[in-house]
Amino acid sequence: MKIALPDLAAMERFGRAIADRLRPDDVVALTGGLGAGKTTLARAIIAGLGHEGEVPSPSFAIVEVYDPPLSGAPGVRLPLVHADFYRLKDPSEADEIGLDDYRYGAALLAEWPDHAGGFAHEPGCLSITLEVADEGRIAIVEPGTDWRDRVSF
Ligand SMILES: Nc1ncnc2c1ncn2[C@@H]1O[C@H](COP(=O)(O)OP(=O)(O)O)[C@@H](O)[C@H]1O
Ligand SMILES: [Mg+2]
Repeated sequence: MKIALPDLAAMERFGRAIADRLRPDDVVALTGGLGAGKTTLARAIIAGLGHEGEVPSPSFAIVEVYDPPLSGAPGVRLPLVHADFYRLKDPSEADEIGLDDYRYGAALLAEWPDHAGGFAHEPGCLSITLEVADEGRIAIVEPGTDWRDRVSF
């Protein structure tokens, strides 16, 4: 499935559509070169889940965690982990940073998923490859089996 994302507004809408459908234990695997728009789409998803304010790029920290607020305060509607695996030298390092613990009960937004060994074998994985197209981007979307009834974007 190919989706045209000609500008930032289209990216924003796409991110919100994914956020509306996202469940705990899902992975959104964001593939594409530097500048492809992975962090931009992750930020749109995080905003769509209800987060207000800054979304730091996890490229240095590798993992940023978003937890729902305890009371009615504004915040994400489900536990979320935003990771950028670019700096991992070997997929085994994903275990060393405790990825499984971060993921427990949470949804994962993963930039450079192949550096962590890949997630496409998981039924809850929505694989998105972003490519530059003119001024905008194109998303190539490959849904895991758990996403088959959720991908009317
Ligand atoms: N659909 C789009 N149309 C036009 N520009 C975009 C789009 N998506 C992202 N960009 C721009 O591309 C640049 C790089 O995006 P970024 O999300 O940081 O890439 P990545 O995380 O893949 O390295 C940013 O300046 C962003 O505004
Ligand atoms: Mg990025």
